[in-house]
Amino acid sequence: MGIIEVNSISYEYNAAKDISIAPALKDVSLSIEQGEFLCIVGHNGSGKSTLAKHLNGLLQPTSGNVLVKGMDTKDEQRSLEIKKTVGICFQNPDNQIVTTIVEDDVAFAPENLGIEPKEIRLRVNMALKAVGMESYATSAPHMLSGGQKQRIAIAGLLAMQPEVLVLDEATSMLDPAGKAEVLSIVQRLNSEGITIVMITQYMEEATIADRVIVMADGEIALQGTPKQVFSQAAALRGLRLDVPAVVDLRNRLIAKGMRPTHALNAKDFANFIAEALGVTNGD
Ligand SMILES: Nc1ncnc2c1ncn2[C@@H]1O[C@H](COP(=O)(O)OP(=O)(O)O)[C@@H](O)[C@H]1O
Ligand SMILES: [Mg+2]
Repeated sequence: MGIIEVNSISYEYNAAKDISIAPALKDVSLSIEQGEFLCIVGHNGSGKSTLAKHLNGLLQPTSGNVLVKGMDTKDEQRSLEIKKTVGICFQNPDNQIVTTIVEDDVAFAPENLGIEPKEIRLRVNMALKAVGMESYATSAPHMLSGGQKQRIAIAGLLAMQPEVLVLDEATSMLDPAGKAEVLSIVQRLNSEGITIVMITQYMEEATIADRVIVMADGEIALQGTPKQVFSQAAALRGLRLDVPAVVDLRNRLIAKGMRPTHALNAKDFANFIAEALGVTNGD
């Protein structure tokens, strides 16, 4: 069994109000394995954020159920434990900062859980270190860059010692440097054992995942390894998604009979071309 099991969930935003609109999620099933790096992509309005909010009980399905380590997100007595297990980082870093000093911000959630001050101190230091922000502990969050703010938001989640980190377009408001900072932290946390669910509109980012899920109109339209998903260029275009430029080139080379097997990102592709041309970088 996965660390999170999503069993045939549907969700309607206005179910209570008797307004008939298309459900935001339609019979979605998904098993998230402990330690995996899962990416979710899909056009605007395809249901990605709605699905993300189901992963720690922020939303509860209209039908079906979600189990986090076997705990049903509808079980109110487990809701705190579920929120500790699965942390969600959202798009806008400014909306996630609640205090005027970085370390207070990271301590905010564990304080609300009633954790002892001494233990909180340890966790705050550990979390700030994990995101490379320890020298900013006493800074004012509003003085930080977007990428640094997002790292503080992630530190706040890490202070809860989560097992799963969900990032809902967490890099989309950041400049290229901020995006790269957050991505490298997320990759390192995954290598240390934290399960990652990363929602992104940037197809290139999805190439680093173990598995990619493509949502369309509230349903899972495609899934597989990045290679399996991105080799289906026509299907992706039909779902209003771009194929990353490097992957597009890879697909075209394969159509011509070449075998750039590992070349899903720019670095691998550079190596493939260097090999094909018989040049090495000297190290
Ligand atoms: N608070 C809300 N109330 C009503 N409808 C909503 C709300 N949030 C999202 N929706 C609708 O649910 C569908 C899925 O939205 P969302 O999960 O935000 O998609 P994505 O994150 O993929 O852009 C869309 O049709 C959207 O308009
Ligand atoms: Mg969204």
